[in-house]
Amino acid sequence: MTGKAGDVIVVGGGIIGLASAWRLSLAGARVTLFDPAPGSGATRAAAGMLAPVTEAHYGEEELLRLNLESMAAWPAFASELEQQSGLEVGYDRSGTLAVGYDPSDKAALDELWRFQQKLGLESSPLSASACRSLEPALSPSIRGGLDVPTDHQVDPRQVGAALLEACQRARVSIRHERVESLLVERARVTGLRTGEAREERAPTVVLAAGWRSGEIAGIPPGLRPPVRPVKGQVIRLRLDERLPRPARTIRALVRGSFVYLVPRRGGELVCGATSEEMGADSRVTAGAVYQLLRDAQSVYPSILEAELAEAITGFRPGSPDNAPLVGPGGMAGLVIATGHFRHGILLAPVTARIVAELVSSGLGEGWERRPAIDPRRFSRRAGR
Ligand code: GLY
Repeated sequence: MTGKAGDVIVVGGGIIGLASAWRLSLAGARVTLFDPAPGSGATRAAAGMLAPVTEAHYGEEELLRLNLESMAAWPAFASELEQQSGLEVGYDRSGTLAVGYDPSDKAALDELWRFQQKLGLESSPLSASACRSLEPALSPSIRGGLDVPTDHQVDPRQVGAALLEACQRARVSIRHERVESLLVERARVTGLRTGEAREERAPTVVLAAGWRSGEIAGIPPGLRPPVRPVKGQVIRLRLDERLPRPARTIRALVRGSFVYLVPRRGGELVCGATSEEMGADSRVTAGAVYQLLRDAQSVYPSILEAELAEAITGFRPGSPDNAPLVGPGGMAGLVIATGHFRHGILLAPVTARIVAELVSSGLGEGWERRPAIDPRRFSRRAGR
């Protein structure tokens, strides 16, 4: 760090904004973070899977490298955060078991395994009986699966609370206000205006407002991050002590649809998630709850005995190429950190590090350029 961080405003108090604010503050910046309700958006809904291997997708090999880099950073990030906040974050190394319900689901997992092997990822095929020896309450109908010991999980609600505490201990000023627009003067971002028409100024503004980042006024249209809300509905089940509980995250492919079951210490089971292009529709629908329960009970029948504790909607900030936008915003004084889509929790450590390095370098030299996630890849495409 070169210590040029100075005053910085962070817009957005989800995991990305909070982690960035924390890291910036540790790097010597005086940070003010704006969010009406920190930790309450996608971070609150997320299951918290750190799953670069089971979520590897064709055509996203560059994103996979970033995901693996952030995965490698998670253990140290988690322990530093726990130490500095005095709060636990629920980092759980029990691993992940992916299972296929019918022969086509199993064939799709076999194909995923071949892709994972090509990429050198750690994953082993398992017979149905081997899956059931690991997780005895799995349905006898499943056809087999993959053991992925390196895909872990954290509890995003605990991480959010710990980050908020760590930020406060690091003297980040938290302002519970909605940001209406950024202030732009002579082609430079100089601060922001809140919903209450108050102005706050700083030489650097980090825009980390999730899917809303593209809606904040003031940024010229060609530079606005092209992010959209991708709706995810998630349910939380409470398992009492009579019910079996998975020992690890279970991801299942059931008649072509993915569903995941993420066990938390204390008996909660997070079951998600839909992926819907519905705009910012925050309704929890009966159809989604039905679909999640139907698919989850196909592979783990005893969940139907559990208490339905919560149903919640979150919005992943989707980008046009599924990779995040982290880096200079194409305008002096502006840094962007959004568009993390399915990987916001996983990518928090690496994003916060990049943001802190970039701001500490004075938005000049001294930080590693990363074209695959540079927000300006979209503004250039728009002919700028
Ligand atoms: N990464 C999990 C999800 O997006 O639902």
